[in-house]
Order: sequence, then structure tokens, then C-alpha cells
Amino acid sequence: MTNDREGQEAAPSRLRALVLGAAAGGGFPQWNCNCANCVDVRRGVPGLTPRTQSSAAISPDGRAWALLNASPEITLQLQRNRALHPHDPALVGGRHSPVHTVLITNGDVDHMSGLIGLREMQAVRVLATAEILSLIEQNPIFGVLNRSVVSFEAIRLEEPFELVPGVRATVFAVPGKVPLYLEGETVVTDLVGEQTVGVEIEGSQGERLYYIPGCARLTPALKARIAGADAVMFDGTLYDDDEMIRQGVGVKTGARMGHMAMGGSDGTVQAFKDVAVKRRVFVHINNTNPALREGSPERRTVEAAGWEVGYDGMELQL
Ligand code: MLT
Ligand code: MN
Ligand code: ZN
Repeated sequence: MTNDREGQEAAPSRLRALVLGAAAGGGFPQWNCNCANCVDVRRGVPGLTPRTQSSAAISPDGRAWALLNASPEITLQLQRNRALHPHDPALVGGRHSPVHTVLITNGDVDHMSGLIGLREMQAVRVLATAEILSLIEQNPIFGVLNRSVVSFEAIRLEEPFELVPGVRATVFAVPGKVPLYLEGETVVTDLVGEQTVGVEIEGSQGERLYYIPGCARLTPALKARIAGADAVMFDGTLYDDDEMIRQGVGVKTGARMGHMAMGGSDGTVQAFKDVAVKRRVFVHINNTNPALREGSPERRTVEAAGWEVGYDGMELQL
């Protein structure tokens, strides 16, 4: 499957966003999962579409791209999206990539492990907060990105930086938790700091996009910040907080994993009800989520509230 869009067309002046992978950790279907969605998507039941793990790409011109997170399926995602193929017209042979920058929003396996796929001698910038960067630096496997050409740059909360030329971005803390593999005895699921961030992205025409694939709580400050945006890509992990328990595939609630649920009186759909955003798109969707199934009551509920359920290859022209 190729997302058949040329990377060399005349430069549009407004931001483009591509959903590379709309699934949460594990993907859809997940290798070991027998939940109703996973069983049916493997059987090819209409209304269900496989999704790879959580990542998006942003460009102001279709030439230089920033990846938002590096998923385990990054190689496949780069293959499937033509805009991300090498396409320097001046180059015959040799190596090139339109991937200019990779920004990591937390240290989760689904968001960070794909850096390994960007081996090895390709110039690229890897941006993350100092706390997330320290996880990369502590793990020697990421040494496969050769530091003579790959720069690892710490970005600070609330300090704007250039994401790709012509695009300004700012990372901000959102409630969340440390990655699963760093959880100790007691887990704080509502930490606010450098370990989980959202990204505010502004194009040259003033268009504004938010990328928030993990969020435990929509705080009043977050709500105020997002208001008036052209688009938000938001944590769509679960529909019901306890759906993994009810479906017999896990013991954790969404809250325990640091994720808001879509449904319910304290869920995302309700929390965003009075927030003016032109396009609202769920990403990081867990395979158990009933809203993945087209036509389901949950899917109809989120769509009636103006939400789109993200899918691999989805493109937003802002
Ligand atoms: C999450 O988003 O909660 C994590 O990706 C979970 C995990 O690492 O499996
Ligand atoms: Mn995740
Ligand atoms: Zn499943």
C-alpha cells in the first residue's frame, strides 16, 4: 500500500500532516491478541482496518518533513508514504531522506524504538526533552545512529524552536507517566513534567496543530491552549477506561496507563465539547477500542461529536 502523493509538487504554503501510524503500542491487530477487533481485522471483516503504531509526519512544503515519534514500524511507514521517499532531484545514487527531524514525545517503546530504523549515516536531528533524551543516551543500541551526522538536541518545555524550516513548534507538559519499562513499585499516572509532552506546531500562515498522543487529563490550561486550533491529534487509546479488563486482555485501566478514555462523562469527547477546534482526530488507538469498528455505536458517538478516527495514510491539509 502506497500513499500515492508526490513529494515534489509546488510548495503549498500551509502545513500538511500525515498520520503514519494511528494505533497504540502493540498495533492493530496486536500479535498476541484475540480481542474481538483483532480477530475480526485478521479475518478481513469489513469496517476494520489494520493500523501500525503511533507516529505522524509534518511538512510545510512536502519536501522537508518532521516525524513526530519513531514507531517500531517506521521502516514500513516510510515505505508506504511516497512523500517520505528519497527524492532529491539533484542526486543520482547516493543517499538522501526528506526526514529532517524526529521529535519524540515520550520514552514509550511505541514512540522511541523506531529510531533504530533510521540507521545509520543519515543526517537527521533527534529532538526531545532532556529527560527523554537521557533514555536514548542510556541505551547503547541507539548508538546505531552515528553521532557524526545525527544530532541529538534537548528542547525545553515552553521554549519555541524550529521544527523544520518555516515551522515553529513548542513542547509542553501533559499529564502522563514514565514508560512502562521504568515503572517502579508505585506509579504516578498523572505526572506533569518532561516525561510526556504534547507538541504545538505553527505554520507560516498562522495555522496551528496540536499533537498529543498520550494524555491522562485535559487540564484547564491545556484546554485554553488548544482553543482555536486548526487541528488536534489526540490520545484515542481506549473508549472505555476498563475495556481491556472487560475484554479479558489486561488488568489495567486507561487511567492506570496514563490515558484518558474517549467515552464517559469525564472522557475526551465530553472534555473537548466546548473547545473550538476545526479538526479533531484520534490517534494512538488501542486495538481493543470499539470505535475502531466503522458503524459501531462508539464510532457513531465520536463522529457525531465531530471526531475523526485516525488511520494510517490519513492526510490533513491545514
Ligand atoms: C502506552 O501508551 O501506554 C504505552 O505505549 C504502553 C506500552 O508501552 O505498551
Ligand atoms: Mn503508547
Ligand atoms: Zn486486540
